[in-house]
Amino acid sequence: MAVSYSVKILLIEDNLAEARLLQEFLKQAKFHEFSFVHVKRLAEALQELNRGTYDVILLDLTLPDSEGLASLAPLIRLAPSLPIVVLTNTNDNELALEAVRRGAQDYLVKRLVNSDLLVRSLSYAIERKQVLETLRAVNETLEIRVQERTAELVKVQEISQFKSEFVSMLSHDIRSPLNTIQLIAGLLQSSGDRLPKEKKISHFQLIRSAIKNVAQLLDEVSFIGKAESGKLYSEFHPLNLENFCRQLVEEAQLSIQQKDLTLIFTSVGELGEALWDESLLRHILGNLLSNAIKYSLLDGAVRFQLIAQDKTAVFQIQDEGIGIPKEDQQRLFKPFYRASNVDKIPGTGLGLAIVKKCVEAHGGEISLHSEIGVGTTFAVTLPIIRSSGSL
Ligand SMILES: Nc1ncnc2c1ncn2[C@@H]1O[C@H](COP(=O)(O)OP(=O)(O)OP(=O)(O)O)[C@@H](O)[C@H]1O
Ligand SMILES: [Mg+2]
Repeated sequence: MAVSYSVKILLIEDNLAEARLLQEFLKQAKFHEFSFVHVKRLAEALQELNRGTYDVILLDLTLPDSEGLASLAPLIRLAPSLPIVVLTNTNDNELALEAVRRGAQDYLVKRLVNSDLLVRSLSYAIERKQVLETLRAVNETLEIRVQERTAELVKVQEISQFKSEFVSMLSHDIRSPLNTIQLIAGLLQSSGDRLPKEKKISHFQLIRSAIKNVAQLLDEVSFIGKAESGKLYSEFHPLNLENFCRQLVEEAQLSIQQKDLTLIFTSVGELGEALWDESLLRHILGNLLSNAIKYSLLDGAVRFQLIAQDKTAVFQIQDEGIGIPKEDQQRLFKPFYRASNVDKIPGTGLGLAIVKKCVEAHGGEISLHSEIGVGTTFAVTLPIIRSSGSL
């Protein structure tokens, strides 16, 4: 065996004479040097193992504070990589074998031990344990690799499934305005001459809005694509956040149309000088406001609150609309996902996916609270970046 250094043994043996004899045997060893620590009880052995490092344990199976195989488990638990050679009496063969089955590397029958036998047994025990340890380590590494590879494969599968779903939903959403265009263009071609002027104008208007829908859809998809591939860059500039929010509310006011909605903006706390990415903010707040309006009932209120805190700004957008079923709430931020209660309210399901990407690009978080029949509140928390650049 390749032990060229001094082998350190922890001898656990209550019988002093036996211990001396073993020490004598080891002194006689020709090619190895052994050093000993001798303890008489299991409790002492456990203390000793906590204090020092050993190469092997020589364990008597009859100790004053532990009988038979009971000594093995605590030792293995405390020093799992340390080889153990058990010492048994002549009539204890069964016990010795059981000890090996339970994790000891070898056994020696006390009356039959001599120097050679003892040295060989200790050396083999150390070597065998090392091989076992190496195997265990290799096994562990392999297991971790297998787990990592499996996780990668699952991820690749998920991405590829996501991509194909994405493409099919996108083509579905593009097809419907294209159908409108084709239908109306055909109508204009076949009976355009006979149509009254107003009808023609309204047909052209439908074509224009269908084209606008497709263009908007493509813009949104390309925006998500950019964000997915990490190409969503943020540019921070000084901005009067409160004025900016007020302006967004005014713009949103225009889209309320036939609904009898009240739009209320309030601002709490002092923001001070800070840097913001105007384009990301516009995507975030614009989408949340437009959702709050779109999913509101005919009358009701949409409340937009800007709360300035020490290091963060919180944007809360609250409506009294249709609410979002609990089971849909987790998945709302996935592209094209729409809740089950949208009924005939138009939409592509891309808005919140964009919001989420923008919030992430701004280093913030988004949360929602919603109850059917009561309403929905989205809260976006963004870090305040002071002009000096510190968060
Ligand atoms: N304020 C809200 N109240 C109720 N449901 C909402 C609200 N905001 C979002 N939702 C639900 O979340 C879904 C996803 O919203 P998202 O903004 O991504 O898509 P959308 O509004 O359907 O379409 P668009 O891409 O045109 O915004 C909506 O379809 C709707 O089911
Ligand atoms: Mg939306």
